[in-house]
Amino acid sequence: MNSGVKIGVISSGRGENLRYIIEETRSGYLPAEVRIVLTDQEDAGAVEIAKEYGVNYQFFDPIGLGREEYDQKLIDKLDSEFVELVILTGYMRVLSRSFIMHYPGKILNIHPALLPSFRGLNAFQQALDYGVRWSGTTIHIVDEQVDHGPVIYQVPVPVKENDTHQSLKTRIQKAEYRAYPKAIKMFIERRFRIEGRKVIFDSKKED
Ligand code: GAR
Repeated sequence: MNSGVKIGVISSGRGENLRYIIEETRSGYLPAEVRIVLTDQEDAGAVEIAKEYGVNYQFFDPIGLGREEYDQKLIDKLDSEFVELVILTGYMRVLSRSFIMHYPGKILNIHPALLPSFRGLNAFQQALDYGVRWSGTTIHIVDEQVDHGPVIYQVPVPVKENDTHQSLKTRIQKAEYRAYPKAIKMFIERRFRIEGRKVIFDSKKED
């Protein structure tokens, strides 16, 4: 039997992060349960992964709906599942203010770069074009600006001279699969306070 913090995952894409999060709830590493997977893409890989693991899922078609109207549908579904923590995995729509206010400080996002570098779309190509030696991944609390809120955890990943978009993406995403469950665990289990942009964890507890 699963138990613990009730998670709702929202994804537009492949859902590989979802797979690792579900695995870590089932292994006992994460004291949490993925109650529902929501997607704005009917053919999202995340749906296949939800099916594979027997997790409830629902596709909500955004066509013809305003942002607030669409997000209210998500809220209604998440609330009906008593979701306490919202996890974004490759969710490509910008959340409305009312959604963010409905789950204050309870929405996490993963971005494939070391924020504040390379916010927005195509972070891999942005890193390659800039010529950085390191990029990585960031897990942060969602606020009203895109890829912006207080940072929970980051993992640096080297950029190699012969990297292509695909090779860098593969290396960063491999790091993400370990980083996201770890950040979720820190968020759920460790005492912390937020001061301005900073998430300050109780240092007595191990990662
Ligand atoms: C991940 O690499 C995540 O960092 C990125 O989308 C991918 C989702 O992969 N998110 C963003 O770019 C959001 N700004 P997944 O669907 O396989 O978990």
